[in-house]
Amino acid sequence: MSKERLLRKSDDSDMLFQALDSVQEGITMIDKEGYIRYANRAAYTIMGAKREDVLHQKVDRLTKGTPLLVKILEKKKPIIDIEYFLDFKGKTVHLINSGYPVTDESGEIIGAIDIFRGMQRSLKLADTIAGYSALFTFDQIIGNSAKIKSVVKLAKAYSRNNENVLIVGESGTGKELFAQSIHNHSKRAGAPFIALNCANFPNDLIDSELFGYEEGAFTGASKKGKMGKFEAADGGTLFLDEIGEMPIHLQAKLLRVIETLSISRIGSSKPVHVDVKIIAATNRDLEERIREGHFRKDLYYRLKVLYLDIPPLRERESDIILLADHFVKKLRQKIHSDVMGLDETAKRLLVEHTWPGNVRELENVITRALVICEGEYITEAVLKLAGLQQPCKRLCAPVQLDASQVQDVLQRLGGNKKKTAEALGISRPTLYKLLKRK
Ligand SMILES: Nc1ncnc2c1ncn2[C@@H]1O[C@H](COP(=O)(O)OP(=O)(O)OP(=O)(O)O)[C@@H](O)[C@H]1O
Ligand SMILES: [Mg+2]
Repeated sequence: MSKERLLRKSDDSDMLFQALDSVQEGITMIDKEGYIRYANRAAYTIMGAKREDVLHQKVDRLTKGTPLLVKILEKKKPIIDIEYFLDFKGKTVHLINSGYPVTDESGEIIGAIDIFRGMQRSLKLADTIAGYSALFTFDQIIGNSAKIKSVVKLAKAYSRNNENVLIVGESGTGKELFAQSIHNHSKRAGAPFIALNCANFPNDLIDSELFGYEEGAFTGASKKGKMGKFEAADGGTLFLDEIGEMPIHLQAKLLRVIETLSISRIGSSKPVHVDVKIIAATNRDLEERIREGHFRKDLYYRLKVLYLDIPPLRERESDIILLADHFVKKLRQKIHSDVMGLDETAKRLLVEHTWPGNVRELENVITRALVICEGEYITEAVLKLAGLQQPCKRLCAPVQLDASQVQDVLQRLGGNKKKTAEALGISRPTLYKLLKRK
């Protein structure tokens, strides 16, 4: 080989090493005897190791269990994108790892190489692709009323803190919007936001959704085992929606997780440390649930440290028109409507309505109005056609209400009779009478 060519070769390999040190993926390589011959900078960082701890050491003496690289030498085949726990010096690192055999020109295996990245980064990517990430931020929360402004101020303060948050509020007030905004405003914004609706799962499934399960943990479980929401949210936020519906035996387990910051997958006794901020939300009156024996008092107080009560729309009248205009602008394009806005008669009707379904109900009414409206402006008549009922705030004599309407509102307000009576503008005894009539 000429001197010049040799020089070029060493320049190339210098550059190759520099390139491999510039990536965030960890890379390690062993020879066919199982000695580590190379590790890039990210590998040392991810493992929390020094060069001398790793280089020229036998790989199976460094970690517990059979390292992926050894499996590759045995199987002589690549193993791609597997969940991998690297136990190094008493610390467990959670990774996604791929390993490949390294062959010489004649096809003979001379070693193995693996490429890995921290689980958090992989999860964030998976969430972005699957659309699970938190989209909303505080500047998208519309409202000028003193009440909503003070709730936003409080929520911003909660984002700077690591404690758990409990959000209460009637259905459709924006609880999820606030949960996502808190996450995006916090230091955890770059990590996953994982949501679980406790009302959507049969009792025995919430358990495995939250904690995951080990290979072969129970019949019917997927053979490979599965990570639960707690692990998936590691470093980020776990949003437990409709927490009031969580079965009581799981509430005890949740409390333990909050206290110990560790979980065990079902079928495993190995605790896994999790760093998760919990934001719980409910439209139920949790104190009533406690009195009825459906909710644990200790969990309630533990979650309630940072408490956010989102006021119903009827208590922030000045936001109604602002929100209505916002939805007209936001939905106009989606619906391909040429509507310019709302006329005075429509605005009056909107302000007079009591909004038992809150902002969601307003958004739905505006959507329907945009579909129906043939003129430039949405009028009172269009709103009525869109299903906006007579305003109940002042008149609603009980005779005008039928039991199914009352039942409907009661359901939307999470079974809370006090709030239903208030929303309908009737007394509680009248409400009971109407419900009995059904
Ligand atoms: N202040 C607001 N500004 C803009 N949009 C809002 C506001 N509040 C609520 N919304 C919108 O209203 C809808 C309902 O909000 P969200 O889903 O957060 O309510 P929720 O309290 O979680 O309701 P539920 O109890 O029924 O789950 C969403 O489309 C949300 O974007
Ligand atoms: Mg919700």
